[in-house]
Amino acid sequence: MPNTTLQAARAAKNDEFYTQFYDIEREVEAYVQYNQDVFRGKTVLLPCDDPDCSNFTRYFAQNFERLGLKKLISTSYAIESKQYKIGLQTSLLEEQSPQYDPDKSKTNGKIFILDSDRTGDGRIDLDDLQWKYLHDDGDFRSDEVKSLRDEADVIITNPPFSLFRDFFAWIMEAGKEFLIIGNMSAISYKEFFPFIMENKVWLGVSSGAKEYIKPEGGVQKMGNTCWFTNIDHGHRHQPLQLMTMEDNRRYTQHKNDRRWSFAYLQYDNYFAIKVPFVDAIPNDYEGVMAVPLSFLQKYCPTQFEIVGITDRGNRYGLKSKEYTKEETPKYSDLNRRGVIKQNNQYISGFAELLIRKRK
Ligand SMILES: C[S@@+](CC[C@H](N)C(=O)[O-])C[C@H]1O[C@@H](n2cnc3c(N)ncnc32)[C@H](O)[C@@H]1O
Repeated sequence: MPNTTLQAARAAKNDEFYTQFYDIEREVEAYVQYNQDVFRGKTVLLPCDDPDCSNFTRYFAQNFERLGLKKLISTSYAIESKQYKIGLQTSLLEEQSPQYDPDKSKTNGKIFILDSDRTGDGRIDLDDLQWKYLHDDGDFRSDEVKSLRDEADVIITNPPFSLFRDFFAWIMEAGKEFLIIGNMSAISYKEFFPFIMENKVWLGVSSGAKEYIKPEGGVQKMGNTCWFTNIDHGHRHQPLQLMTMEDNRRYTQHKNDRRWSFAYLQYDNYFAIKVPFVDAIPNDYEGVMAVPLSFLQKYCPTQFEIVGITDRGNRYGLKSKEYTKEETPKYSDLNRRGVIKQNNQYISGFAELLIRKRK
């Protein structure tokens, strides 16, 4: 298989990983702990889901009353529209329902709604979920799912990784609250980074699931995923406890790490210093510091501001010098590797955030 076909096959497979109950519960509960009314009276939409087996649907249905939800809606994507079908099959719940239709089961998405006590047992929970087929295949870009988005107050899901950019744009154009899973690498996307920089989107509380359920059974490790949200949580209000630069030099735990040798070196084409570890950010430096992207997991916006990213080609990255109007580059030119070279080698291959202490 040519490389691109292989890549496409892997991407299609990654799109079918499912989130574990524990990871959803741990993340969502953190918002409730911070604000117990965070979901009260709200309509929550779970798109790109598979409601008859999804842990998102299970978690929100089980906790419907405690969270004070007004309505829960989840939608699935038709089996025939999915690119990776291994292990996918019609659920027993669907096959045993009076509305089961073997043709629609393949070509149509489904919608599950929970808004009242239909069983009459005095509680609103999983047993009260009602479902039917959607008219279309449940693509989040369809008019049908778009109108559900517009009805919702909060959108929560683990969207297909390969469509992350489209999915994020889809949420932002509706201006809703959201909590979604994505890859950390999204941070440096030019369509995404400006929202991080302007504090319109931030990282969730837990560092993201480490394992996802595979449709054919078993789990898949994925180390680089995280939650993205615009819902407030307590971690954002806890400033990092940091030492002075002098104390860092004296007491750092990183002395034996090769990266420590670059600590606090000055970039030569941008007025910033390199800080290779988040816990080594000095609390007494007033200028710009280039820090690893993992800083965002500890980011408290009243303690620091984000001024840019080292990523050539990112429109919102930084320029290495002031350009005249005539020579303005199309994109900024401060590349991912920064410009610090030692022994003729660049010292970092990753995009880094440029941050500054708030006054
Ligand atoms: C990463 S899985 C996550 C499923 C579920 N939200 C969870 O976390 O357990 C993404 C889901 O989105 C579905 N999907 C893929 N493309 C889609 C599209 N264009 N519109 C809606 N759903 C899509 C996939 O088939 C898959 O079921």
